[in-house]
Amino acid sequence: MFDTMTLTKVTGAVCGSLLVYLFISWAGEGIYHSGAESHGGEEVAQAYSIAVEDAAPADGAAAEGPAWDVVYAAADPAAGEKVFKKCAACHKVDGSNGTGPHLNGIIGRARGSVEGFAYSEAMAADQTPWTTEHMELFIENPKGYVKGTKMGFAGLADIKDRANVIAYLETIK
Ligand code: HEC
Repeated sequence: MFDTMTLTKVTGAVCGSLLVYLFISWAGEGIYHSGAESHGGEEVAQAYSIAVEDAAPADGAAAEGPAWDVVYAAADPAAGEKVFKKCAACHKVDGSNGTGPHLNGIIGRARGSVEGFAYSEAMAADQTPWTTEHMELFIENPKGYVKGTKMGFAGLADIKDRANVIAYLETIK
């Protein structure tokens, strides 16, 4: 019964099925692989974000930039006079008050101490004399440094601007 022809047909059918099976599983593996690859990609991304986290403190340090002392030592009062235009809408340096108290002699002057100026409670509460360091923190983020201040100014983001304007104010007694 099992003549050569039948055997050949059966073998051919088996081989054909095997080929189809191999092809399907190969194609499937291809799909699986691409899935695995993107999964691998995620893992790579995660490894990358961990690396970024590791780098974050270094970045933070870099973002903080050079120390205040160093920047302030190189400050330029003439450039600060230009920066002061942002303050001049509210502050004068001729001894008269505007929206804000006059700022002549501000470095070393007791905080919230100009006679006749209606300070916020927050500003008047602490009469520590202004140092360049206090000023720097205040003008970087007024409401963050003196919570409840009525100085309606967002702050100077650039440390050089802060250094220059403070150096300028220091020249005005
Ligand atoms: C929109 C108006 C406005 C601008 C702009 C402004 N200030 Fe003021 N500033 C005020 C007011 C109002 C006060 C009083 C705050 C309080 O009593 O809480 C004040 C207070 C101060 C004080 C404390 C004075 C003291 O007698 O203790 C300093 C220092 C100061 N400003 C510096 C600056 C500098 C430097 C700039 C520019 C970079 C600036 N301000 C921009 C309104 C302003």
